[in-house]
Amino acid sequence: MLLSARNITKSFTGVKALDGVDFDVRPGEVHVLLGENGAGKSTLVKVLAGVHSPDRGTVERSAGTRLAVIHQELTLVPRLSVAENLYLGRPPRRFGIVDKARMRQGAKRLLDRVGLSVDPDTAVEDLGIAQQQMVEIARALDLDAQVLVLDEPTAVLTGTETDRLLDIMADLRGQGVGLVFITHHLDEIRRIADRVTVLRDGRSVGVLPRGASVRRMIELMVGRTISEQYPRRRQDPGEVLLKVDGLTRDGAFHDVSFHVRAGEVVGVAGLVGAGRTEVVRAAFGVDRYDSGRVEVAGEPVPRHDVRAAVRAGLGLVPEDRKGQGLVLTSTVGDNLGLVTLRSTARAGLVDRRGQRERARGMAEALRVKTSGLDQPVRELSGGNQQKVVIGKWLLADPKVLVLDEPTRGVDVGAKVEIYELVNRMTAAGRAVLLVSSDLPEVIGMSDRIVVMAHGRVAGELPAGTTQDKVMALAVQEFPA
Ligand SMILES: Nc1ncnc2c1ncn2[C@@H]1O[C@H](COP(=O)(O)OP(=O)(O)OP(=O)(O)O)[C@@H](O)[C@H]1O
Ligand SMILES: [Mg+2]
Repeated sequence: MLLSARNITKSFTGVKALDGVDFDVRPGEVHVLLGENGAGKSTLVKVLAGVHSPDRGTVERSAGTRLAVIHQELTLVPRLSVAENLYLGRPPRRFGIVDKARMRQGAKRLLDRVGLSVDPDTAVEDLGIAQQQMVEIARALDLDAQVLVLDEPTAVLTGTETDRLLDIMADLRGQGVGLVFITHHLDEIRRIADRVTVLRDGRSVGVLPRGASVRRMIELMVGRTISEQYPRRRQDPGEVLLKVDGLTRDGAFHDVSFHVRAGEVVGVAGLVGAGRTEVVRAAFGVDRYDSGRVEVAGEPVPRHDVRAAVRAGLGLVPEDRKGQGLVLTSTVGDNLGLVTLRSTARAGLVDRRGQRERARGMAEALRVKTSGLDQPVRELSGGNQQKVVIGKWLLADPKVLVLDEPTRGVDVGAKVEIYELVNRMTAAGRAVLLVSSDLPEVIGMSDRIVVMAHGRVAGELPAGTTQDKVMALAVQEFPA
């Protein structure tokens, strides 16, 4: 045994995050930690890593066992370069001076290992979120630890990057490294896990062997079966609520046109770099565009003006929620009310009580695990923070809601709750644009699917299409 934790108990004010958990790591195994959002997975990781000391219980490590952890929240310094981040606190020196050339060389080698082709001198803040995650992984790999803990590394990764990571993990396992792996993607667990410890409400409720069925995993983690994973309820579409016409930005996207009708969910699929997030950010006014137009319910939306877009009835749940969606130091209630606050002000007076009522209702509908509306959002588990951002926009009830990767890091049960709220919105005559790299999700929940490739619309597919058809369009090349 490389590492062995016994009877770990850990409470925060008001919550027992862990309650008598046993957990161990053997050399040459991938030990998955599975559980709903807020079940205690990240807390256990932090106890193993010594970030938190447990209230009760012990963690034992065999002598000389080094532990490397990739935490759920990224820990990179945005302003610094990729190379500087990779060697943060341990730069190679020559005669006491940081040896930049060697640092750059070392960085290149590390980036190659994870298959990331970026210039080591690039500032981390200029990278996409998946690329940042790969840098984080590269840094942890360089520590040559005997135990490697990965807390939801694949939440922001797409197919190829995930494949690469799982290959690297299998390699390390072959070299005798013990890996602890957290993910909400049950297919990944089926591919790589040697055993699965399931946490529910801070307790270990079972250890499953390799090959356990998805059904069994869900049953153990949520305590019930989920009959319908994609409960889309369609209705006849109404008027066009969102019209994007010929949207173009040099070097990013070209002549992008599509529309969404009242009552519709339109999916946007494509590979990383296809320009999906760029288009929706431009339509929402966060970024500029060069030509084309955006209309909401027939009214043109001014360019590069988020306030005007919100007034016009657009809402966007952004891909990078930590950075763009939440005020971490504020409370759950205030975050849920962030967009509604202005619109529900009566005669200049903010309707605080009404706002709290609605916030409470939403927190319940999404089953946000929190001690109350006054809890600071930064104390919530990763997935529960995601639910708060989504809840904030659902409460604002825009005419058109754009969801960019809405269920990243969200557990299987909570996904279904989010889908139900999407159904509720479309039933009420709203339009939803669903940008997602999760193919089963985009196919299962959309009434039509727009597929993008290389910054262009490659084609459109009807509901119930196949993954192969989506992929065929997603890899389409365009003549220069
Ligand atoms: N610093 C903290 N202060 C107060 N409560 C906390 C703190 N850290 C975690 N918690 C609470 O402990 C519980 C377990 O959280 P944890 O982050 O371990 O969940 P998780 O299983 O990792 O969930 P997710 O899948 O959403 O990442 C949650 O109720 C969370 O709100
Ligand atoms: Mg977590």
